[in-house]
Amino acid sequence: MQKVLITGASGFLGTAISRAFRKDRELVCHTHTRGGEGYRAADLRDADACKQLVDEVQPDILIHPAAYRDPDFCERHPQESTLLNVDSVRHLQAGLAGDALLVYVSSDYVFSGQDPPYREEDPRGAVNLYGRQKMAAEELAAQHPNHLILRMPVLIGEDPVHQPGFISKMREAIGDKTPRAIDDVLARFPTWTRDIAEAICFLIQQEQRGVFHCSSQHGGTTYALHQVLAEMLGENMEHLSPSHEVLVRPAARPRDSQLSPEKILERGFTGFKTFPEVLRELHI
Ligand SMILES: NC(=O)c1ccc[n+]([C@@H]2O[C@H](COP(=O)([O-])OP(=O)(O)OC[C@H]3O[C@@H](n4cnc5c(N)ncnc54)[C@H](OP(=O)(O)O)[C@@H]3O)[C@@H](O)[C@H]2O)c1
Repeated sequence: MQKVLITGASGFLGTAISRAFRKDRELVCHTHTRGGEGYRAADLRDADACKQLVDEVQPDILIHPAAYRDPDFCERHPQESTLLNVDSVRHLQAGLAGDALLVYVSSDYVFSGQDPPYREEDPRGAVNLYGRQKMAAEELAAQHPNHLILRMPVLIGEDPVHQPGFISKMREAIGDKTPRAIDDVLARFPTWTRDIAEAICFLIQQEQRGVFHCSSQHGGTTYALHQVLAEMLGENMEHLSPSHEVLVRPAARPRDSQLSPEKILERGFTGFKTFPEVLRELHI
């Protein structure tokens, strides 16, 4: 039976991946602090902890989503975020057997957002530190002889256990009737965590290797996505106004980093659900 180690298994995406991998495989779920019983805790900012984790588990497949995924946090804490977002890949990979598979979770933020949609081979050019960390981590992952690198946009799904997700935050903004301006400039393509988990299973089963884009093709600005949700909820959102100015934040954002999923679809993957389809699946 294949042994699979999932880092960040207590996180938003890690939870969905571990659910998908529970069947027919021996699973080791890693966490930093939040997982609780049944999880293997390790601080992956620490080189020795990375080494110890891989040495102990000796996985056939290592899936590595653990990261700081807030671009503003990364911009404010460059050293700390580099330890987890970049260096952990080097340290985990160092202990991995050459024939073991490394699945690295990357982001659409490796692209500048000037020239979408992006295919896997298109030149990267991140506009913020988080994106540059993802670029550096991809290069480290690609040094492993047996690797998959998956790029994805903003994720949606069942709320993570410890914090409200993208949909809950939108729902709150629509429901609490507090007037506010919502970004109507940057294009986003929310993609279901469950579809990502299925895509990983599919690529492993098909013995695919290399870089793949995993993204829904239904997108819009955050304001437009609020309109879709409000309509489904049967609520009005007159208190929300479209902001045509890009919000000033510590980390710049790509304007439109739409990923083309053509490559994975050509290999036979069934596809990524649209935003309204996911809302329906989640009974919203
Ligand atoms: N969420 C998105 O919209 C999105 C979009 C594109 C790409 N991604 C990528 O997808 C991956 C997963 O993101 P996510 O949304 O699932 O993130 P998340 O919910 O914030 O989960 C992060 C995971 O990393 C773990 N972690 C945090 N600090 C750690 C440390 N020092 N050592 C070891 N583990 C640590 C956390 O453990 P604890 O629970 O114990 O803190 C948690 O399990 C990331 O690589 C992210 O860049 C996410």
